[in-house]
Amino acid sequence: MGIQAWQSKRAVAPARAQAEAVAPVEHAPETPLPEPAAPTATVPPARPDVSGMDWETLQACVSECRLCELHESRTQTVFGVGDRRADWLIIGEAPGKDEDLQGEPFVGRAGQLLNAMLLAAGLKREQVYIANILKCRPPNNRDPALQEVACCEPYLARQITLIQPRMILAVGRIAAQNLLKTETPIGKLRGTVHRYAETGIPVVATYHPAYLLRSPLDKRKAWADLQLAMATVAGDVP
Ligand code: URA
Repeated sequence: MGIQAWQSKRAVAPARAQAEAVAPVEHAPETPLPEPAAPTATVPPARPDVSGMDWETLQACVSECRLCELHESRTQTVFGVGDRRADWLIIGEAPGKDEDLQGEPFVGRAGQLLNAMLLAAGLKREQVYIANILKCRPPNNRDPALQEVACCEPYLARQITLIQPRMILAVGRIAAQNLLKTETPIGKLRGTVHRYAETGIPVVATYHPAYLLRSPLDKRKAWADLQLAMATVAGDVP
């Protein structure tokens, strides 16, 4: 898996030795040797068409996903959790160690802060839906690779279509940049309402709770973002 199959040199050498033994070298016409085998292309798993899937089929499909290498290191996939008819869809980056072990997004320290942020906005965790750009943990919590994001994108897109939230809260740079297909820094993306291109759903970007744990002074800005998110859901933002 993932390893190119080259024909072994040992498989070629006996063929040459055998040919030379049968005909002495000085009289022998050039003995055709087998062509070295071309590298066998690793056939990528077929991408499933998730566009018409219901929740159960989609979740089963994600749990078996082997489209990128992250399936090799994950404990389990982290599909998403919460109210499937929520007004608020929270999208983070990718599962961390705790999430990989428990199979649920935002259950570690960053998750505790996310819960507190939601409570400040008048919402219990169960009232929103929470998912990530990636369904599998990148080793050592490194940034998601482009190809990993591309593999996971249809799953998240289908979740968004099924939920039809009134607003997507993108927490952190990776979530915001991937949802909005931009490289603009998070500090510039926050503060205004964007649109998720595929469906036109409003997107509000804010800082990742893990960042806020390290930079508590920016919690004030995050609170302003939550207020913008609340106003957006209430229909108070044009
Ligand atoms: N950080 C994220 O972006 N998502 C999680 O699920 C956990 C931590």
